Amino acid sequence: MSGQVAAPLVSILMGSKTDLDVMQSARDTLNDLGVSHEVRVLSAHRTPDALFEYLGGAATRGVEVFIAGAGGAAHLPGVVASKTTLPVLGVPIPSGHLMGLDALLAIVQMPKGIPVATFAVGKAGAGNAALFAVAILAGKRPELGQKLTAWRKAQADRLVAESVVE
Ligand code: RP5
Repeated sequence: MSGQVAAPLVSILMGSKTDLDVMQSARDTLNDLGVSHEVRVLSAHRTPDALFEYLGGAATRGVEVFIAGAGGAAHLPGVVASKTTLPVLGVPIPSGHLMGLDALLAIVQMPKGIPVATFAVGKAGAGNAALFAVAILAGKRPELGQKLTAWRKAQADRLVAESVVE
């Protein structure tokens, strides 16, 4: 083994360690599909300087897509998008009294000119954001398109096998 770590194609960001349970779905999906990624906990509000420093170097190191999860005021995806023209996929985290509706509205209501693609609240959104990131990467990498097709077939086969309820 060379011990070399593949350059990360996807950056998974989240505003707090408490988001990790939800964002793990994105990690699991990228692992399933063999897509290199890195994970950082960086907050638009609590650690803005560290976030900007990270974003300044991410593209140079190979990152092509950002997945950003945040709860509450949920400014992280929009702030990431303000600093890069790479695609940013936002995942609303269910947290606190509003259970993710606050984050959903914060992430989806971006001003014209700085887009963020917004996914479903919670684990479904995190998993789908990862699948969407792979679909973006597959534009230049046909082998990833084949992996996505195989992933969907495996999902369908599994569900059909479980379709009979005794
Ligand atoms: C957001 O505030 C984070 O993304 C998190 O979902 C939420 C609550 O953070 P903690 O108070 O649990 O650290 O910035």
